[in-house]
Amino acid sequence: SLFFSFLVVAIVLATTSYSIDAFTRNDFPEDFLSGAATSAYQWEGAVDEDGRTPSVWDTFTHSHSRDNGDIACDGYHKYKEDVKLMADMGLEAFRFSISWSRLIPNGRGPINQKGLLFYKNFIKELRNHGIEPHVTLYHYDLPRSLEDEYGGWINRKIIEDFTAFADVCFREFGEDVKLWTTINEATIFAICAYGEGISPPGHCSPNKYINCSTGNSSTEPYIAGHNMLLAHASASKLYKLKYKSKERGSVGFSIFAFGLSPDTNSKDDEIATQRAKAFLFGWMLKPLVFGDYPDEMKRTLGLRLPVFSEEESEQVKGSSDFIGIIHYITFYVTNQPAPSIFPSMNDGFFKDMGAYLIPIGNFSFSEWEAIPWGLEGVLEYLKQSYNNPPIYILENGKPMIHDSMLQDTPRVVYIQAYIGVVLNAVKNGSDTRGYFVWSMIDVYELMAGYRTSFGMYYVNFSDPGRNRSPKLSASWYTAFLNGTIDVA
Ligand code: NOJ
Repeated sequence: SLFFSFLVVAIVLATTSYSIDAFTRNDFPEDFLSGAATSAYQWEGAVDEDGRTPSVWDTFTHSHSRDNGDIACDGYHKYKEDVKLMADMGLEAFRFSISWSRLIPNGRGPINQKGLLFYKNFIKELRNHGIEPHVTLYHYDLPRSLEDEYGGWINRKIIEDFTAFADVCFREFGEDVKLWTTINEATIFAICAYGEGISPPGHCSPNKYINCSTGNSSTEPYIAGHNMLLAHASASKLYKLKYKSKERGSVGFSIFAFGLSPDTNSKDDEIATQRAKAFLFGWMLKPLVFGDYPDEMKRTLGLRLPVFSEEESEQVKGSSDFIGIIHYITFYVTNQPAPSIFPSMNDGFFKDMGAYLIPIGNFSFSEWEAIPWGLEGVLEYLKQSYNNPPIYILENGKPMIHDSMLQDTPRVVYIQAYIGVVLNAVKNGSDTRGYFVWSMIDVYELMAGYRTSFGMYYVNFSDPGRNRSPKLSASWYTAFLNGTIDVA
């Protein structure tokens, strides 16, 4: 019946508007890493156990009476079971994040020994099963005390605290961890947390679609983004100076990478697309690769955009050993005001950008369509405009309504199509070194709670034991990783 299910996938793919050549795992370079991902708040649970203090996400979910990550998948207690599932699947790498509030309660000061032990055991368990850990230091979950004390990422004090946290991680886990991402999808994080009000601390201006009065969305995303670049650069520099061992690994930065393509072939839409790329990619990548913000942003934002001192520019430039990209969706871009499905997209950062994003296909959160050429375009653009940097695709996957649907054929179609274009990109010279499915297992979804999930393993969230069962996507990925299927 698995054969039959895969046949259905092949037939669906054959009837889509894009074509993917047949491939197997063995067509990828041998050192290419195929894995899957989760993050601390979304997977661990155990939020007030063993000395962990609250992060801004705990406060946000509880004060907005939303679903929360109090228990999530209970990964904190069930990590051995999950590593076993990963090993059975043949995962080559696993990407997860460290909860800052678990390792260093309140964000600064002494290490929490129980938290330390948890991560040590977990990382050892991965290594013992031959799975390469890819650690994200910061995945949305700032220790609340740092937010309360000085406003988190909009204050430069964050640079020192983040660097100290990173230092602990490098020192304690560095022997087993060679792949580090400092900050998860920094671009969209800065926008959502300090401009759009949709992730904690939830800053936005009163003119937003939700009733919100804290913060200044015309400056804060840019200030937060600036501090993220400086914090990343500071941690990356420390790693290079202090941890010189021969087998030293790499430290990268990550951004949310929209697929972008002009709506028409008019000159205006072409220029609007360039502008959108400058804002959505160049904002962080230009400083990382060339040492300064894109001209398009400087021109539009004037004094609202922070300025790098010469020393900072030198420190940021070249500080990312790879670029991590998070990719799910693709838009057409137009110069004409177009109503957005997100009203807030006509304001703040997106208004500054001066280009309008038109969703392609069915765009409700559980229906994102596979537009694999969008990712191919991103990889080609990074190759051409940013000196072909080493790239890890840190997230890609499909959200679906979370019910007991184990037969997740649309997810398999989606993942298969994207892996296919990653292979094309690699063949065309992109230095893409790895691909991670989001997510390894159903987790607490930041934007949709438990209604929607991305997992290859189903988690029964109403069962106290949080039972796991494989979906079709888990079987498909297993077969792909084993090189036993010739797909597409
Ligand atoms: C990217 C975020 O890194 C992840 O935490 C989230 O679950 C997915 N987007 C899906 O929204």
